[in-house]
Amino acid sequence: MNLSNIIAAIVEEMRTAPDRGTVASYIPSLAKIDPAQFGIAIATAEGETFTGGDAEAGFSIQSISKVFLLTLALGKVGDRLWGRVGREPSGNAFNSIVQLEAEKGIPRNPFINAGAIVLADVNLAGYRPREAIGELVQFVRYVASDETIAIDETVARSEEQTGERNRALAHFMKSYGTLHHAPDLVLGSYFHACAIEMSCRQLARAGRFLMLGGLHPDGGRVVPARRARRILSLMLTCGHYDASGDFAFRVGMPGKSGVGGGILAVVPGKASIVVWSPGLNASGNSQLGGLALERLAEATGWSVF
Ligand code: DON
Repeated sequence: MNLSNIIAAIVEEMRTAPDRGTVASYIPSLAKIDPAQFGIAIATAEGETFTGGDAEAGFSIQSISKVFLLTLALGKVGDRLWGRVGREPSGNAFNSIVQLEAEKGIPRNPFINAGAIVLADVNLAGYRPREAIGELVQFVRYVASDETIAIDETVARSEEQTGERNRALAHFMKSYGTLHHAPDLVLGSYFHACAIEMSCRQLARAGRFLMLGGLHPDGGRVVPARRARRILSLMLTCGHYDASGDFAFRVGMPGKSGVGGGILAVVPGKASIVVWSPGLNASGNSQLGGLALERLAEATGWSVF
């Protein structure tokens, strides 16, 4: 299998793809991104990284940060987390509030906004928001083996200014006691997590510990093997919001998307893959990113099924 050739063919197809989706417009600093871009990076279990297209361009990882927030939260409270957030697909949009009332302020899963706000609350324990964010950025740098990763403060401010729906979710959960800290502190931390900027290459490398059963490729262990498996299972069932079933059907890999147009997909024992193209489909997932992963799964046989 020649990954360089496979990548080149995918990049060429994506360059001329007629339907590129629509760039997220509800956060002003995301609305300005050029939709013509497409990047792909594949970090393999053998330790190589293959890239194509705009793989070195930084983009806002947005909800893909929820994977790292979840990893840290499980490290802090272990299975006690599941008393405050569920593990079922929501069947609703990522920022939906409707289920929260019927389900007593417990979000369906850690990958919808309400669930990730709970993760931010867990990660705040004993910390000030600045320290919690510092810990998250340090963790992402560590798993990516890259000290240059940072937060885009303009995006963080933009999130803050337009985050009324997230504020509603946080206050609603606070009223049920799901959040333990003041909503404003939790949200500050959540908004900054969404605003981490990374390239396809950096993010594919950050996903390597999930491909390697929890091991760090440079040595040592990031999480126990069982935890890596469980994180991947949630990515498969909940990583694309109410389009998670469709993504599993078309691509067959655990994956997590973000409204910045990135998708992190992991094939256990084989590859950590990131595709990025800013145009989104109606479910808020990258239009070309999903298509590119579909092509990659066909060409490599990397579906987990
Ligand atoms: O909470 C929000 O509105 C965003 N900043 C993050 C959401 C996100 O990426 C959801 N994704 N598809």
